[in-house]
Parts: sequence; structure tokens; C-alpha cells
Amino acid sequence: MEWWKQTSIYQIYPWSFQDSNGDGIGDLQGILSRLDEIQSLGVETIWFSPFYLSPGEDFGYDIADYTKIDPRFGTMEDCERLIRAIHKRKMRVVLDMVMNHTSDKHPWFLESKSSLSNQKRDFYIWKTGTKKPPNNWISMVGKSGWNYDESTNEYYYSNFLSFQPDLNYRNPKVKKEMFAVLDFWLQKGVDGFRLDIFNSIYKDEGFRNNPFSFRFFPTPDNHDEAFFQKKQYNLNLPESFSFAKEVRKHISKYKHKPFLIGEVSGSDQVLKSFLGEKADGLNLVFQFELIHFQYKAKFFKQLLEKNESVFPSPYTPTYVLGNHDQRRYIDRLGGDLRKAKLLVCFQFMARGVPVVYYGEEIGRKEGRISNFFGKDPIAKMNRFVPLFLSNLLGIYINRDNCRLPMLWDGSKNAGFSKGKPWLPTGSFQSEDTVESQKQDPTSLWNHYQTMFTFRRKMSVIREGSLNTLPTDSDDVLCFERRGSENHLMVYLNFGEKVERLTVTNKGKSLYGFGGANVLGDTLELPPHSGLIWEVGKTKVSKK
Ligand code: GLC
Repeated sequence: MEWWKQTSIYQIYPWSFQDSNGDGIGDLQGILSRLDEIQSLGVETIWFSPFYLSPGEDFGYDIADYTKIDPRFGTMEDCERLIRAIHKRKMRVVLDMVMNHTSDKHPWFLESKSSLSNQKRDFYIWKTGTKKPPNNWISMVGKSGWNYDESTNEYYYSNFLSFQPDLNYRNPKVKKEMFAVLDFWLQKGVDGFRLDIFNSIYKDEGFRNNPFSFRFFPTPDNHDEAFFQKKQYNLNLPESFSFAKEVRKHISKYKHKPFLIGEVSGSDQVLKSFLGEKADGLNLVFQFELIHFQYKAKFFKQLLEKNESVFPSPYTPTYVLGNHDQRRYIDRLGGDLRKAKLLVCFQFMARGVPVVYYGEEIGRKEGRISNFFGKDPIAKMNRFVPLFLSNLLGIYINRDNCRLPMLWDGSKNAGFSKGKPWLPTGSFQSEDTVESQKQDPTSLWNHYQTMFTFRRKMSVIREGSLNTLPTDSDDVLCFERRGSENHLMVYLNFGEKVERLTVTNKGKSLYGFGGANVLGDTLELPPHSGLIWEVGKTKVSKK
């Protein structure tokens, strides 16, 4: 089975991970100094949010040069050293690739904007339209995607913020340039790309108006309908599905078997179209349903069953609890670490790739920075919306709050920086840091480490089939994993009562938490506890 189907992914947001030079912003040297730490957690693949040259208006998702490192983070030498050091530790590297748009400070855009006849004019999407935008397309941030440029009297299109003009993939020269960027990094040995808003790559050639929809708020797993519009002509176009295959084919030339994981949103059918009907498109896509979990056994059961029926092997589902755009899951659990352990056990024991966002392993909490004082451009757009209101409506406006510095230890700024951190560390207790959790065998950090280790060591978790099984209680989720070497059962109690179940007496408990215990053939599961039961024989593969 391909390595990327079996891996686990850990996302680092470079701004907030580790600062080495005291400027308050995380950097590559800082990350380098924490690699042993990351390895000891058990991480297999590290995905870095962008560290390319950028004005930083969207914190790196506005790129001014795809083949330069932003001086805030270090130099190309630092980057090469980091890639080597990761590989030396038998981990892999995934870079974020923002193919959809550049920064408006990118030299391509500066040229494109300079005149109607500039040779880079067609690198971006320009349309004439005097007093009003060329059509009704709304961007992902809820305003017209058209931006007027006075000097050439035309509008350029941006599906995100106006300083992020969309590239024109109908121009073969754009594709060529972008493939050259992928090659640049693949030749440096990177093992894959996370493709930013890949569902937005193509727009309708005829610029038709989008039809009306009753839906106003988007959800993270569906941007297709939002702001009273069905985004038929500016998102998820068939050309984008074909392009996924083109990119896959392009990177497949490389012997080290790099892979693609796409940030796309839409129905399962849309996700499947990006993956390709012969699984020949993007290798993986992020699946965000878990971000909006309902803490009920039924929710998790249905998610597993849906993924097994819609994305059966050779497709590989992904299980994502958070990222740099979403409220941290621990907050949605009211900080309850028992519940967090349940969710994580689910995430790691399911068939698929778990994606962990830095800090999740210590239950790093959200910040409380108001929208008014946000640095995030989305917060700046919505300054006057009070935080409580956006929380109440379930819309996430100030993404600063999920990007606060990592909490390493009890020293100044939690060991993140010797200078003033670019975002505050927020309030925390000593037991919230990596240093202290590593010493406590019952901590969340140790639970994560166990989960990473099980996945690495047991092929049944990485490759085995999955079936949900009926239980006597609506609060208990039970599923089995079957592989050629062994057979596991996972029991999770989402309820408030102690549950008792019968287990086959020929098996043994591999790992229990939250007080789960087996006496004879009775499994006792206190509220919010879980247990992994090994029915068959374990053969730990040497990996
Ligand atoms: C993606 C990124 C987000 C960024 C946006 C524009 O959704 O995850 O952080 O702001 O694309 O690039």
C-alpha cells in the first residue's frame, strides 16, 4: 500500500511554532530545534503552512515569490537544512502550495496590472465592466470577487481577498510556470503538497451568473452554496477536476512518490470528482465533517459508515479535527480532556489519514482576541461584529484565535519566544505545556503519542478493513479493524453512564483510557472512556 495512504500528518503553522531569534515570529531554525520533540510524539509527515516570500497580509497565503523563503522565517539554506533534518529522522515534508492566487505584490501581478497589452495581462482574470462588476460572483469571503482597477479600467477576479488575485489557468503559460514551481520543490526532496483552495482553480469560461440559493452561511465542508448563491460557475468546475489529474500525473514522474492533498469543499460527489473516478486525481482531500462533530456515538458511526461506502479502498478518507482556519476542537468540548481522548482515538483508529494541527496534542486552547483587534484579514473585514455574536452564529471570523503560539514549557512566553510574540500566548496553566504533559503518563500528549505509535507499529490500523458493529447502548461506538496480521475492536463510550459489554475472552486489552477495564469477559466503560481490544494475534511490523 502506498506510503501516503498509511501516514499521519502534523500541521505546523510557522508563525506560531518556535521563534529562534527573538523577533516574536516563529521561524525555520526554531522548527529545526523542535524536530526531536516532534519525532518523539510519533509524527510521520509534517505539513508546513506557507513560509515563502510574502507581504504577510494573509500570513503567507499571499505569495510574492514561490521559490524564495520569507526573511521572517529564514533563508533557503535553513529550509534545505530543515528538509534534510526531517528526512534524516525518517519523517516526510509537505509544503502548502497556493496555486489559485498570488499576492497582488507578486511581480506577475504587478506586470499584469501595468497595462492592457502587458505580456502577463492574461496571467490573471481580467474583464471589462465600467460601473458594475462583470457578473454576480461572490468570493469565499462573502463579497463580490471583482476588483476594479482604475488605471486600465478593468476588473480582476479574486475568489478570496482582493489582495489575492486569481491566476488564469486557461493560459497555458500559467500552468507551465506553476509546474516549474512544483518541480523546484520536488527536486529539493519535498514529499508532497497541500493544495490551497484547489476547488477554486478554474472559473466558467463564459462568466455566467451564479444562480440564487436560500443558503447564507457557508460551512467548512461546503462552500458551494453560500451568501445566497449557488457557486456553480466560480467553484468546483469540471476543468478543476481534470486539472487535479494533470497535477497528479506531473508529480508522479518523481521516484520518491510525492502526493497531493487538496483543500476542496463540497458534496461527497464533488470530493470524489477531485480524487478521480479511477482514484487518479488528488491523492487525498481534507474531509472536514469531523470539525463539526456532534459528540454522540451515532454521529461517529454514521461518519465511518459513510466514508466506507462513499470512499472505499483504494480511496483513503482523511480525519481532520482542526486547522489554522477553524476554532480548536478542545474549545468545542468545553476543554474536557476525557472527551478529547475519545475523539483522538476515533480519529487515529479509523481507516484513513489523521491530520493533527499543532497544539492539538496538548489541548491548546483558543484565544479570546476580539474581531476588532484581530490581525487576520477576515477579522479586519468584520471588525464590528462582536466575538460573542460570531460565536453564537457559529461563524469563525478571527482566525488569530486558533493560531496562538505553541506552549512548550514554563519559561517566558511558554518557551515560544524570547521577544514579544506576534500573537499573545493567552492564559494557560503549567499542565498545559508540552514539557509538563510529557511527564504525566495520563496526559493528552501521551495519549497522542500512544495513538501515533499504534498506527506506526500495527499494519491493521494503517491497512485493515473497517466495519461498525451494533451495540446495546446508543452511547457506545464499536468498530472493528481486520487485517492480514490481526483483528482489533475499538469501543468508545460517549455517554454519561457506565456501560458494560461482553468481549471475547480469547483476546486482550491493548490500550484503555478513562478508566476502561476488562474483568473476565466483561468490559466496563466509564463515561467518556475507550478501549482497544485485540481479538487476534499481534505481529508488530518492523518499520
Ligand atoms: C485557505 C487557507 C486560508 C487562506 C485562504 C486563502 O482556505 O487555509 O488560511 O486564508 O485559503 O489562501
